[in-house]
Amino acid sequence: GSGGIAIADEALADSVRRGMARVERLLHDSVQSEFKFATRTSLHLVEAGGKRFRPLFTLLAAQFGDPTTDEVIKSAAVVEMIHLATLYHDDVMDEATMRRGATSANARWDNSVAILTGDFLFAQASRLIADLGAAAVRRMASTFEALVTGQMRETVGVAADEDAVEFYLKVIYEKTGSLIATAGRFGAWFSGADEAHTEALERIGRILGTAFQISDDIIDIASPAKESGKTPGTDLREGVRTLPMLYALTDADTGTRLRELLDRPLTSDPEVDEALGLLRASNGLARTRATLDEYADNARKELASLPDVAAREALSTLVDYVVARTR
Ligand code: FPP
Ligand code: MG
Ligand code: MG
Repeated sequence: GSGGIAIADEALADSVRRGMARVERLLHDSVQSEFKFATRTSLHLVEAGGKRFRPLFTLLAAQFGDPTTDEVIKSAAVVEMIHLATLYHDDVMDEATMRRGATSANARWDNSVAILTGDFLFAQASRLIADLGAAAVRRMASTFEALVTGQMRETVGVAADEDAVEFYLKVIYEKTGSLIATAGRFGAWFSGADEAHTEALERIGRILGTAFQISDDIIDIASPAKESGKTPGTDLREGVRTLPMLYALTDADTGTRLRELLDRPLTSDPEVDEALGLLRASNGLARTRATLDEYADNARKELASLPDVAAREALSTLVDYVVARTR
């Protein structure tokens, strides 16, 4: 199924399938341009076989009201378009050559094309957001700010007097959790769900999104390229200290050599491979999985405040998926 999960309830699965088909149509319609090259470069990631995790979450959140409104569908498409736009930019910043099992846009064309395609998607997403009203525009502006701030914070790195794990958790909330929280809020909001449920779905999105990035950071170390569709060790090469690394640095067996390796930028393949090997051998991955489990438990606690309907069960499956995913 989409988003990496199978939905057991037939009626719910049907509703989500219909909603997702409308989202897909809108995604394709929204990248049409009289300048065909912009459409082509946008379709590159639109059609690259993403998980559609964010719009799926929006559609599930919308089940607590009327999931068929145009606003629900538009907001789901907007969230995916913003996400795709950040991926174009992220792959430039990370100098990534692979995304979703395909050549990244920056590698297929060049940095300028990738950056401008991201901007093109932002422009088209902004047009859709305008139809959702000023409150949605304001909300998306704050989300945007969080995405950019998180990315900037990650680039600059932690300050000497700051706790590295707290810094990491703040960054991943900003760069990933914020958009997934908004995905949940939008779905509930535009379906006309109760205020209390809307707040809960936003909180669930925040926790789920943070967990999603923790699993992404595990994947960067533990998942082979043929599984993840991305090059392992990208965080290492970019000097991004993710949670497995922060834990591994304090591991008595691997910490000393890792600190030595990270003293200067890791550029050569043998050094990246050695660091990856140390990370995989350290207790960093197991400790990170334990942290991920804590987030999943918190998300399940929040889920308990929602009415016992099929969508709640599907959201619980989504939590399980985030913990278990390898791509
Ligand atoms: C992926 O992280 C990156 C993000 C989730 C956020 C990216 C945010 C920006 C590029 C800033 C916002 C830009 C605009 C124009 C709003 P990752 O590199 O850890 O994930 P990956 O493994 O999928 O590459
Ligand atoms: Mg990246
Ligand atoms: Mg990045």
